[in-house]
Amino acid sequence: MEELLSSVPETDLMDGIDFERLAARIGFADRGVSTAQIDFGFDEHRTMHFLPKLFAVDTGRSIIPHGHSNMVSAHLPLTGAFRLRQYDLVSRDERSLTIQPTVDRMIQSGDLSSIGEDDDNVHWFIAEEPSYTFDVIVTGLDDTAVQTYEIFNLDMEAAEPKGNGWLNVPRISVSDALRKYG
Ligand SMILES: [Fe+2]
Repeated sequence: MEELLSSVPETDLMDGIDFERLAARIGFADRGVSTAQIDFGFDEHRTMHFLPKLFAVDTGRSIIPHGHSNMVSAHLPLTGAFRLRQYDLVSRDERSLTIQPTVDRMIQSGDLSSIGEDDDNVHWFIAEEPSYTFDVIVTGLDDTAVQTYEIFNLDMEAAEPKGNGWLNVPRISVSDALRKYG
């Protein structure tokens, strides 16, 4: 995905997805993000595991901190700027994720990031200005899994340092996460 997305100028991508129309339609959310699925005109009866989406994030709002299971994704800022933090996934249980910080940097148009099954699996974007990302989400990596994919929202303020650089972070509900971090 990185190779493919880096071969297309952002302006061409924006033309290709009819960015202006989509952005006008979804606006910005008061908390968190607003999103639009992007229709590339594929057969609608086909099961798609590659989901292209547009994310709109207003100033100070965020793509809340979360980890993933059974999916990977790539995120290309089209306009705007974010503070991006990422973490490797070390382990997961019913109540928490243990993670290791890997990325903490400012990103803007063209700064692609991605999540792997373990590497950089947790991400958190805070918009510095009204911003948009083009995302490709790939679900169902393990087609024997019960869930096509899972998302684990994290309460980063309650993170407990483990002393070796790892953090143990409690999982929280979407509504609590949006209230605190959205
Ligand atoms: Fe994500």
